[in-house]
Amino acid sequence: MDKLEQRVKELNKLLYDYGYAYYTLDTPLVSDAVYDQYLNELIALEEQHPSLVLPDSPTQRVGASVSEGFQKVTHTTPMLSLSNAFSEEDLLDFDRRIRGMIDETPTYVCELKIDGLAVSLLYEDGILVRGATRGDGTTGEDITTNIKTIRVVPLRLKDNVTLEARGEVYMSKASFQKLNEERAEREEELAANPRNAAAGSLRQLDSKIAASRNLSMFVYGMGDSEVQNIDAHSEALNYFSVQGLPTNKETRVCSSMEEVIAFVQEWTAKRTDLPYEIDGIVIKVDEYAQQEELGFTAKSPRFAIAYKFPAEEVVTTIIGIDLTIGRTGVITPTAILEPAQVAGSTVQRASLHNEDLIREKDIRIGDRVIIRKAGDIIPEVVGVILEERKGTEIPYEMPTNCPACDSELVRIEEEVALRCVNPTCPAQIQEGIYHFASRNAMNIEGLGEKVVEQLFREQLVKDISDLYKLTVDDLVKLERMGLKSATNLVEAIESSKTNSMERVLFGLGIRHIGEKAAKILSETYHHFDALMLANKEELIQIFEIGEKMADSIITYFEQEEAVQLIERLKEVGLALQYTGKIVDAATLENGLFAGKTVVLTGKLTQLTRQEAKEQIEALGGKVAGSVSKKTDLVIAGEEAGSKLEKATSLGIETWDEQKLLDQLAE
Ligand code: IVH
Repeated sequence: MDKLEQRVKELNKLLYDYGYAYYTLDTPLVSDAVYDQYLNELIALEEQHPSLVLPDSPTQRVGASVSEGFQKVTHTTPMLSLSNAFSEEDLLDFDRRIRGMIDETPTYVCELKIDGLAVSLLYEDGILVRGATRGDGTTGEDITTNIKTIRVVPLRLKDNVTLEARGEVYMSKASFQKLNEERAEREEELAANPRNAAAGSLRQLDSKIAASRNLSMFVYGMGDSEVQNIDAHSEALNYFSVQGLPTNKETRVCSSMEEVIAFVQEWTAKRTDLPYEIDGIVIKVDEYAQQEELGFTAKSPRFAIAYKFPAEEVVTTIIGIDLTIGRTGVITPTAILEPAQVAGSTVQRASLHNEDLIREKDIRIGDRVIIRKAGDIIPEVVGVILEERKGTEIPYEMPTNCPACDSELVRIEEEVALRCVNPTCPAQIQEGIYHFASRNAMNIEGLGEKVVEQLFREQLVKDISDLYKLTVDDLVKLERMGLKSATNLVEAIESSKTNSMERVLFGLGIRHIGEKAAKILSETYHHFDALMLANKEELIQIFEIGEKMADSIITYFEQEEAVQLIERLKEVGLALQYTGKIVDAATLENGLFAGKTVVLTGKLTQLTRQEAKEQIEALGGKVAGSVSKKTDLVIAGEEAGSKLEKATSLGIETWDEQKLLDQLAE
């Protein structure tokens, strides 16, 4: 065991150093393959010997199981916010106020104001033990498992110190764009800006989702700390850096207000060059002694201020309005603009969302309009400059018929959107084929929007089953399609035939049936034939399948066209079978843990945690990460700590590992 323990420690150290070099210093020491090799070795060792999992092991970053909800956290020192400055005049006032209150001349630290959300990191003896949101400033939420997925956040500091570091978690512009591209592909609502996207990611109860979002962080202040001999904010920032915490390198110590204003002007001009969003500059008095003298108002410190950038707005002309038809038939009007530069990029289109918005803002073709980027990313029309109206502008009328198939558009109940409800509308079918091939559905690489458009136009593909009849000869005739890409695409289509049922089901684009519902239905029915025979009563019995979803499934398979489509998919060779783990519905409903929420804590010696979790789930239980009033049972292994205490205090039933094994054997 000693040797193994030694190796586990070695691997932890190596992976920590490589990770820090890669994520925080941005200077990789080894290739990804080498990193993965060490990581896999560690994962294997930890799986065989769960007792060797160190609290700061890099394997803890991948995200743990879904938690029930977040525990509340009380901030010992409240997390305040800053008062704002909107002009240079405001900044000069701030400086005058400070000089009036202290005797010495202050030195300021200027920092970028990162547009994300404030988070507190608590390290005890050098180990990250808690990550929490700001919440209302006094009480936040414990988001430790999500925080651990952020690569730049060290799970262990260089020294064994106890301190609370505060900073901003954010999503880079690139990750934000990737996220929204994926959402657009799935016809999901887009995130408005990187800040909302980062906040949403941290709120995920499933930390695997947070892990996939590529969040990052900069640390900008010290909370409660036992560290001695730090007398100024700039020293704290240096100290953070030495301890391996991520600090922002664009920070500047300024000895006069002129220098501060120069910094502000510099970044007002350069902000769009950064790979992440900033919404201003934060100016802080450097010396802690002076900070103390200045003190706080009720809401914010007097020793710091946030200068906020004005949102960039630009005037341009609407030269037309285009309509796009989504997979579900929703018609979205988009303004076509005379190209304009806004916040670092050229904008030519801005979504007008729906007819009501056009009415409300009285937008006409030919109008001069103010545009800006919402959250500095998604272009939107702020309003019309009525003073510039010449009278030649043309009011816009939404069509009554679909621009693609000419069938009459309808407005469904309380929806503002107009919809084309013709199931054979070519625009919708085309979007549907594209969705079927997309990453989270059949994942057919090389079948992008442009290719689908051509296949459809050339009548090579009329519905998704035709994809499976395509030959290399068919494909090479398309624009920009070489022999190699054509061969690859045919292979990708071929190999998608054996995809598990849930991918096909999600790919069909049945209303209300997202990825998760498709998975649950596939786990339950195993094959399309069985699902197609299901009735509503049966469907709503399934945990997490609601009435809307059940109705939607029934309505879909009642259509003769749908049944025929599935028939054609069978003919071309799709397996339509669930190939994932089989969970028996009867055991789920009547199993030992049916409907129960179970928490595992402490070290298990005879089962791995994963094994225990799988067995509990197979018997109908849900395994949660933290103890709350909703917990039904806590299984406590050796050296169980706070979770067991909490369970006892809440009067929740607890078992030891042996009792679990005995019960499972029965
Ligand atoms: S210092 C007392 N520094 O801006 C609050 N804040 O209201 C101390 N922010 O909630 C905050 N970048 O989330 C500070 N370099 C920076 C910052 C920063 C972003 C956020 C923070 C805070 C808000 C100010």
